[in-house]
Amino acid sequence: MMATAEVALQLYDGAGPQFWGSNIGYRKSGSSFPCRSFERCRKKRVLKSMKSLKCLSSSCRGIRIHQFPCINGVSHRYAATDKFGLSHCKCQSADNVGGLTAESGNGTWFVDNAKDFNSTNGNVRNFLELGAVKELKHDKELHHSNGNPPSDKTIQDGMNKGKSSFIENEAWELLQESVAYYCGSPVGTIAAKDPTSSSVLNYDQVFIRDFIPSGIAFLLKGEYDIVRNFILHTLQLQSWEKTMDCHSPGQGLMPASFKVRTVPLDVDDTATEEVLDPDFGEAAIGRVAPVDSGLWWIILLRAYGKCSGDLSVQERIDVQTGIKMILRLCLADGFDMFPTLLVTDGSCMIDRRMGIHGHPLEIQALFYSALLCAREMLAPEDGSADLLRALNNRLIALSFHIREYYWIDMKKLNEIYRYKTEEYSYDAVNKFNIYPDQISPWLVGWMPNKGGYLIGNLQPAHMDFRFFSLGNLWSIVSNLATTDQSHAILDLIEAKWADLVADMPFKICYPALDGQEWQIITGCDPKNTPWSYHNGGSWPTLLWQLTVACIKMNRPEIAAKAVEVAEKRLSRDKWPEYYDTKRGRFIGKQSRLFQTWSIAGYLVAKLLLANPGAAKILITEEDSELINALSCAISSSPRRRRGPKPSQKTYIV
Ligand code: GLC
Repeated sequence: MMATAEVALQLYDGAGPQFWGSNIGYRKSGSSFPCRSFERCRKKRVLKSMKSLKCLSSSCRGIRIHQFPCINGVSHRYAATDKFGLSHCKCQSADNVGGLTAESGNGTWFVDNAKDFNSTNGNVRNFLELGAVKELKHDKELHHSNGNPPSDKTIQDGMNKGKSSFIENEAWELLQESVAYYCGSPVGTIAAKDPTSSSVLNYDQVFIRDFIPSGIAFLLKGEYDIVRNFILHTLQLQSWEKTMDCHSPGQGLMPASFKVRTVPLDVDDTATEEVLDPDFGEAAIGRVAPVDSGLWWIILLRAYGKCSGDLSVQERIDVQTGIKMILRLCLADGFDMFPTLLVTDGSCMIDRRMGIHGHPLEIQALFYSALLCAREMLAPEDGSADLLRALNNRLIALSFHIREYYWIDMKKLNEIYRYKTEEYSYDAVNKFNIYPDQISPWLVGWMPNKGGYLIGNLQPAHMDFRFFSLGNLWSIVSNLATTDQSHAILDLIEAKWADLVADMPFKICYPALDGQEWQIITGCDPKNTPWSYHNGGSWPTLLWQLTVACIKMNRPEIAAKAVEVAEKRLSRDKWPEYYDTKRGRFIGKQSRLFQTWSIAGYLVAKLLLANPGAAKILITEEDSELINALSCAISSSPRRRRGPKPSQKTYIV
């Protein structure tokens, strides 16, 4: 086991190819200018009174200019106006941005399913209610025709079905209402549309991470345009010039969110234009860099291709460049000893200080998933061989590291409990010098006999034993966890139902930080008090990730049970962002209502439970090529030859 660990480290600490950190590759434009893009849709100011961001085609003039100095060293520009210079919105559709479309793909995954689904899921409440009633009636007739009256359970089931399709229908309506338009085209969904909230903050923006469940819901419904537009417009924003106090973050960074703004035109004060205004964290509370945005973007891009069958988007040169820019940022060499991605606090769904700096599980699961998705989508070409090699090495090292060092169950916990410390050697058992006293008292009682999970974070002399839901669920979905580990995580969820689901699924992390720990780790954050918000709050949006994970492990009944719990309250409570208290009984203290990803998360869970096969657009399976590569690397490792006695153990714990 030790020898294998060392080999994994070899793959990225020098013995492996060093091509990737050396800045060759995608800054090859030779341009010293940052990539820039401008997206504008102009209209006469007279439209302002219409309180709409939509650019009405009968009365506006569209101009868009795109510059891509970073694409293959060539600067692409596009500008369009009506031949009379007014009257018609000439906003270019997202498809034509850059004009670099490759051939259309011919994949057909799930297209038919999605179409079928589309045709049976209208947005008209009455239609669905009627449908539910009809179904009930049909059930009744069926039973009567068998000579048996319907049982109470049948009637109850029928009523529940009717209720849930009513809720689903409401959810679809709300999701449609949250759609943000740019130049008349749907480009995303805003985070929340809460009429009861006095301060909007940035909840009127389209968040990249929040849009993922919306995008998946639209894909499953056969509405592909909004997802394609979102992918292409956010790609434009990736190249935005961005700074914070004179410092510019890396080129591949995707924004946390963007807003469609209507601004007066400099040159013509009778006219306005629409612009997409991104936030890369330079305005976000705490100025946190959204590391997860680019990773989610890649995951959604793959899902779009798989679901719609339209591979032309991922094949476009600008999209391929976008993928490579994200990878370049993630795979760049740093000072790190670990294959895990090193990030600051609050770089993901938990976007405030919560002690998740360093190597938090959520980022690693998304990183692994994005690497696998990118590997599938990158076009084979001469220039990408080095990148693919770097990517493969990282995948192997990352899966080894997480499976081996982040995993805990009763057995492992007992091992840690008996750890020796201060070992200086290549083959130390306690590599990270974890002091057993760190094992928190809550964990000793909490760990079930059957089940286990991946810990939240690992640093030298520090294991964060908190259970973080998204990281664990996405480790199942992406196959970062082994099959046994994945089942064990679901076993733990079942065993700890009262803590993780209780009255509202799903706890964002368990347990909450309290007392002095809360003071020190959150910086006395009043929004993150114990059992609230990020600190042990319950987030309905997590239902969709739970559902995908359960479907992958062929245990959908667990997700179905959680959906049932959520269904009792979500609509009645007006789709809150999160719930507070240990059992998730109260609507969160500062929770928004009509939070879009609560709505979309519920819809995705319902859609996938009705059609589990569709979850394939998000799932990635164990890759035999990677496993083989790892065993080859293990047997040829110089460290292994140097070590005292070669280990026979396989790398999967
Ligand atoms: C909160 C969440 C973040 C989400 C944002 C918008 O800040 O922590 O993950 O993206 O709200 O909903």
